[in-house]
Amino acid sequence: LRQQGLNEIANSDDLKNVNDIRVKLLGKKGPITNVLRGMRDLSAEERPKVGKFANEVRDELQQALEDKKSSLEQALMNAKLQSESIDVTLPGTPVAQGQPHVIQQIIDQLVDLFIGMGYEVAVGDEVEQEEYNFEKLNLPKDHPARDMQDTFYITPSVLMRTQTSPMQARMMETHDFSKGPLKMISPGKVYRRDTDDATHSHQFHQVEGLVVGEHVTMADLKGTLEVVAQNLFGDQLKVRLRPSYFPFTEPSVEADVTCFNCLGKGCAICKGNGWIEVLGAGMVHPNVLKMSGVDPDVYGGFAFGLGPDRFAMIKYGVEDIRDFYQNDMRFLTQFDQKG
Ligand code: PHE
Repeated sequence: LRQQGLNEIANSDDLKNVNDIRVKLLGKKGPITNVLRGMRDLSAEERPKVGKFANEVRDELQQALEDKKSSLEQALMNAKLQSESIDVTLPGTPVAQGQPHVIQQIIDQLVDLFIGMGYEVAVGDEVEQEEYNFEKLNLPKDHPARDMQDTFYITPSVLMRTQTSPMQARMMETHDFSKGPLKMISPGKVYRRDTDDATHSHQFHQVEGLVVGEHVTMADLKGTLEVVAQNLFGDQLKVRLRPSYFPFTEPSVEADVTCFNCLGKGCAICKGNGWIEVLGAGMVHPNVLKMSGVDPDVYGGFAFGLGPDRFAMIKYGVEDIRDFYQNDMRFLTQFDQKG
């Protein structure tokens, strides 16, 4: 039986055949199983001898089957490798590569600029407590300026932040002023209950800036805004400050930059008197400092809030803010930075 089995295995030449032989020799109805099953009829002396021998035969056949199987598989693989070939010089299939959204590009550029000037970047939450969005920014309940920022409320005291300014309060509260001034920017999304049109969107972006320390002046603010404007729009730009009003800054200003040639074709947005308004800013109001635990007799600072959406519109002459949010690839790919 052993010799016959080994011969059969040696002569078989495909995997199915090897499997058939395995079933025939070693299967439940095969001769080996039969011998092992018959053991109980044998005498006590015979039993170990027969058992040992049957096991040896079984192991040997099993090993032969395994070897045959792997050598057949190896042969199959070799044949396959021989018949197939890959031309590694053929051009590949192009993979479409994504790009940061144009607004994200502006935010990234600003973040890089400010990190270079030693600012920290603080990302706040879009769901904010009313207390931080308003009260701690010197806007008590029923303050008329709350109307300027029509708000999505989640509960009576929790809302979608209408501005990134709450991060001013949060950062001042946690900053250790004995270690030096606080310099931070905070980019992110903000929400207002506006009806969407060419210049309004219920969701848009802001980058908040805040510097609080011992000798911070309005000249520092103007110089910083000049760096921002020149970095984004061109080094020839001038910045001017006009008086304005925000509850959390005193004095408050609006910053304009001189007109520049957007997209080399003259900027549609830049009509009129040669200046474009770009952002709101001011010196941090003493009440705001106090509410965040900062002594206004020792420390002072400036803050600004700018809108990357507006910056992108100005920079590229985009006339409808909704274009940024409709995900039309023909629009978005115009701002690709490839190549
Ligand atoms: N938070 C203000 C706004 O959304 C902008 C601003 C920020 C003004 C910081 C002054 C200082 O309109």
